[in-house]
Amino acid sequence: MNLKSLLVSSLVAGAAIADSGNSTTNVPSSCTIKPNSTATQQSDLDKYSSCQTLVGNLTVSGSEIQTGSLNGVKNLEGSLTIYNASNLVQFNADTLQNISHSLNLQLSTSLQTASFNGLEEVDTIKMVALPQLHDFETNVKKANVVYISDTSLKTVHAFGELQKVRSFNLNNNKDLANLESSLESVEDELEFSANGQDANVTFNDLKWANNITLRDVHRASFVSLKQVNSSLGFINNTIDSLNLSNLTSVGGSLSFVSNRNLTGINATNLEEVGGGFVIANNSNFKLIGGFPKLSKVGGAISVVGNYTYLDLESLNSVKGDGDFETNSGNFSCSSLKSLQSKGGIKGDSFVCKNGAQSTSIKLSSESSSKSSSSGSSKTESSTKSSDASQSASGKSGSKSTASNDGNQSKGMAAAQFAPAGSLMGAMAAVAAALL
Ligand SMILES: *[C@@H]1O[C@H](CO)[C@@H](O)[C@H](O)[C@H]1NC(C)=O
Ligand SMILES: *[C@@H]1O[C@H](CO)[C@@H](O)[C@H](O)[C@H]1NC(C)=O
Ligand SMILES: *[C@@H]1O[C@H](CO)[C@@H](O)[C@H](O)[C@H]1NC(C)=O
Ligand SMILES: *[C@@H]1O[C@H](CO)[C@@H](O)[C@H](O)[C@H]1NC(C)=O
Ligand SMILES: *[C@@H]1O[C@H](CO)[C@@H](O)[C@H](O)[C@H]1NC(C)=O
Ligand SMILES: *[C@@H]1O[C@H](CO)[C@@H](O)[C@H](O)[C@H]1NC(C)=O
Ligand SMILES: *[C@@H]1O[C@H](CO)[C@@H](O)[C@H](O)[C@H]1NC(C)=O
Ligand SMILES: *[C@@H]1O[C@H](CO)[C@@H](O)[C@H](O)[C@H]1NC(C)=O
Ligand SMILES: *[C@@H]1O[C@H](CO)[C@@H](O)[C@H](O)[C@H]1NC(C)=O
Ligand SMILES: *[C@@H]1O[C@H](CO)[C@@H](O)[C@H](O)[C@H]1NC(C)=O
Ligand SMILES: *[C@@H]1O[C@H](CO)[C@@H](O)[C@H](O)[C@H]1NC(C)=O
Ligand SMILES: *[C@@H]1O[C@H](CO)[C@@H](O)[C@H](O)[C@H]1NC(C)=O
Repeated sequence: MNLKSLLVSSLVAGAAIADSGNSTTNVPSSCTIKPNSTATQQSDLDKYSSCQTLVGNLTVSGSEIQTGSLNGVKNLEGSLTIYNASNLVQFNADTLQNISHSLNLQLSTSLQTASFNGLEEVDTIKMVALPQLHDFETNVKKANVVYISDTSLKTVHAFGELQKVRSFNLNNNKDLANLESSLESVEDELEFSANGQDANVTFNDLKWANNITLRDVHRASFVSLKQVNSSLGFINNTIDSLNLSNLTSVGGSLSFVSNRNLTGINATNLEEVGGGFVIANNSNFKLIGGFPKLSKVGGAISVVGNYTYLDLESLNSVKGDGDFETNSGNFSCSSLKSLQSKGGIKGDSFVCKNGAQSTSIKLSSESSSKSSSSGSSKTESSTKSSDASQSASGKSGSKSTASNDGNQSKGMAAAQFAPAGSLMGAMAAVAAALL
């Protein structure tokens, strides 16, 4: 090789490296995708069949391509995007093992099957607006983000070996009725909502997540779930009973809202809820128990429904307001009133109503000049002695009370949970949940 060609080839390799952001492999220019180029037919994909490593962002688009196949490529240092390939019915890239950025399948209304059987590692899988897609094959072992929305998938086998993700969100997949996941941890959010009616979801290996939201599900299983750092919410499900018996703490809010078939919860080991605790509008949840060890609630507590029985036997510290409302005349408020009068429910507002009577206590209305606004503003009092002055200084608004807290880090933690600290906040949370 003469000096000139050596120079040229190293420049080309250098360019490939620069293009990819940071590549450790030397890749020939024929295996570098030109910026903004689009594959519109199979021959555009065949160009890469001799590339073990392909560098750049590969986009497949247009109305021409009907079946597409990327062969030979093992590593893609970039993203693979299928976007608006309006007549594409089938796509496969089964030799691909590694995609350093994203696999995006979007807005391709004819796509029925997509297979990535060799894929082991990808940063992000994003699948959106694929109304005909009923078969997605892969078996990734590593991914950070999985987002699947508006497909026709009936089940998702793709993540049988995925144990850890940052975010896992499946929504609006109207045929999705079964999900059996082997996830063990979710660093950020886990959401499953508005998928197939009567969907059954099983997350029996999941030990912890930052937050979890489950909606429109018929059966859910979380037998290993031990800890949720932020919020845990079950909303608008047809679940009849929930086994959360390994759960010990929820750092943020815990809500069970509008689960019309719910009759039982088993949270035998739950000791603490850091934010608000809401059980509301579960019209068949008449005998509310299953929280025998719950002693601390860091925000407000709100239990609204048709219950005749409410057992929170260990509860001794609620930092925020208390709101207990039931249509049943048989429910007695006496034990809750006694808890409140002993200082076990510290918020400014305490309401306990049954079908026959109502008890309503608003401490803040005692501080005369501020009484007119007491209905809309609640203050979490952190010390027993200074309720009046605290509530007076904390009157700036129901959302910002926590920021008046002198202690910076406590203020931050409180700010996160502040909306749930007051009745208004708890109700807003319910309203938001129902949106
Ligand atoms: C690129 O990769 C090299 C070798 O792995 C590493 O030393 C360097 O820090 C990386 N540079 C950037 C900008 O990531
Ligand atoms: C690629 O497309 C983006 C946005 O469409 C544009 O900002 C960018 O300049 C294009 N790059 C090249 C090299 O054409
Ligand atoms: C691929 O796209 C991502 C963002 O989508 C961009 O950061 C990256 O630079 C692109 N890579 C190449 C090689 O064009
Ligand atoms: C999709 O592609 C068609 C042509 O095939 C084009 O008319 C349409 O504007 C594109 N839609 C989007 C959202 O890019
Ligand atoms: C995938 O790529 C990552 C980062 O580039 C690398 O660490 C990993 O070994 C690759 N995995 C495979 C299966 O090639
Ligand atoms: C969910 O599980 C229940 C009980 O195992 C079963 O009767 C029902 O058919 C399942 N739903 C779906 C959509 O598979
Ligand atoms: C879950 O956490 C993510 C990131 O921390 C956040 O964006 C999202 O709003 C949270 N969802 C809920 C329901 O709290
Ligand atoms: C529940 O937690 C206990 C103690 O941490 C553990 O031994 C047990 O295996 C867990 N159960 C499940 C189903 O994970
Ligand atoms: C609640 O679930 C039902 C189906 O069980 C659905 O029709 C309705 O739209 C959902 N409501 C909300 C507010 O999500
Ligand atoms: C849920 O309860 C309603 C009545 O409140 C009943 O009609 C419906 O069949 C139940 N759904 C399931 C899936 O059990
Ligand atoms: C709750 O679950 C635990 C562990 O599975 C079990 O031992 C206990 O009997 C259950 N309690 C109720 C009330 O179902
Ligand atoms: C009480 O039950 C009735 C009938 O079962 C239902 O319509 C109503 O929404 C329930 N109220 C609450 C607050 O759950």
